Amino acid sequence: MNLKRIPQDLKVSRCHHVSLEVADVETSLIFYRDFLGMKLSERHKAGENKNIPFEMAFLRLHAQHHDLVLTHDPERKYTKKTNKKSPAGIHHFAFECLDRKSFLFYLSRAKQMNLTIVRGPVVHSSFHPEGDGTWGENESFYVLDPDEHRIEIFCDMATISDSGDYVNAYGSPVPETRAEEV
Ligand SMILES: [Fe+2]
Repeated sequence: MNLKRIPQDLKVSRCHHVSLEVADVETSLIFYRDFLGMKLSERHKAGENKNIPFEMAFLRLHAQHHDLVLTHDPERKYTKKTNKKSPAGIHHFAFECLDRKSFLFYLSRAKQMNLTIVRGPVVHSSFHPEGDGTWGENESFYVLDPDEHRIEIFCDMATISDSGDYVNAYGSPVPETRAEEV
């Protein structure tokens, strides 16, 4: 397929909300509210709109209507993610902290809430002295939500210049790194 390169000014701006299927909307709502400070924009019962046979809750972080949607199908029997026999799905999704201070805030909050931290905190870097040899330069930790969806909380992801060079969040070039495509 001979597709044209997308002009920068027309490119979609970001990966945005995730709609998660959850076993219990109320439980997940409490989790995302308590852990991340999300606020409920609106919540609807299954069938309230004739096109939507799901229970839905729209949660926001800042001004936009939703960053996360919790969806529950009353016809479906949910199993934990640890059940290995399931269709392909989301491995994890991520919330960005604006700086490391915010990241550390969430890390202590996760501990305070006794959340299961399944990985980290870890620096995804081959360059950083404490890096784990993986990719992105971001510092991350991972927790499980009530349905065992894996959530990443991170800060300090590298940016990639127009020429493909990596620059870490503190403005330093990252040696021996280069984007595959520019
Ligand atoms: Fe990630």
